[in-house]
Amino acid sequence: MKYFVDGQFTDQEGIKISIDDRGYYFGDGVYEVIKVYNGELYTAEEHFNRLVESAEKVKMVLPYSKDELIDVANELVKANTIETGHIYIQVTRGVSPRAHQFPEIPVTPVVTAYAIENPRPLKNIDEGVKVKIVEDVRWLRCDIKSLNLLGNVMAKQEAYESGCAEALFVRDGIVMEGSSSNVFGIKDGTVYTHPATNLILNGITRRVVIQLCEELKIPFVEKEFTPIEALGMDEFFLTSTTAEITPIISIEGHTIGTGKPGVLTKKLQEAFAHQIPVPVKAN
Ligand code: PDD
Repeated sequence: MKYFVDGQFTDQEGIKISIDDRGYYFGDGVYEVIKVYNGELYTAEEHFNRLVESAEKVKMVLPYSKDELIDVANELVKANTIETGHIYIQVTRGVSPRAHQFPEIPVTPVVTAYAIENPRPLKNIDEGVKVKIVEDVRWLRCDIKSLNLLGNVMAKQEAYESGCAEALFVRDGIVMEGSSSNVFGIKDGTVYTHPATNLILNGITRRVVIQLCEELKIPFVEKEFTPIEALGMDEFFLTSTTAEITPIISIEGHTIGTGKPGVLTKKLQEAFAHQIPVPVKAN
């Protein structure tokens, strides 16, 4: 597999990461996950725009332009002959002896990326998943796609340990998002999701779903809701680059709707599948 590390395409043996990399010490960096369908990057512009925005928010200047990064991603897809998979790309503030403040002598951010084959999670997409409510103890800048994911990691593990596929973050009595996804509830035909504030990541798949709601004329509102309201939703689903639109059939052991993926969720899934580079048939 070919990787991109610090300006070079290399095989695994060629990778050298410094112990002084600030990503390694502090999680001081930002990242993106971009889906590849049929050998084509999906919503690449949106992902790389968000990477640039995340970098700006943590006062990092990317060493490459957005277009150069898209070229790197395309090169990785080609070199690894990826059909259905994703690109992972991260940028750390760079290499410098350990000190919390930014390096006094400016260093160049370190860009690493790879492409990996990863099939669509069709079982979850078709059957739905269970989620567990977890208190959101993350920081107040969840809008930044930062490498610092300990809160997310702890929550996901807690969910897994109770047989759930995802954690549903609740902060101050409000449902926020998943540990690695955005979440949506549907009640009486209207789709609800948390507004894109500093407390959630404004997911690219979330934006696609909002667009699809408009196209399909499904009423959509960005509005806070409580866990109790979540349990009373007719349908519930999560979205992410890798999970696409995954129905949620149970929250904290409470069945949502009929316990099967709902009608509007399925309609959105169908519309989603139609606009990816080449719809991959479910098998
Ligand atoms: N996670 N919220 C959080 C906290 C996330 O980590 C993610 C994505 C999302 C959905 O964003 P998008 O639709 O742009 O993928 C929301 C990625 C997939 C990850 O960390 O693997």
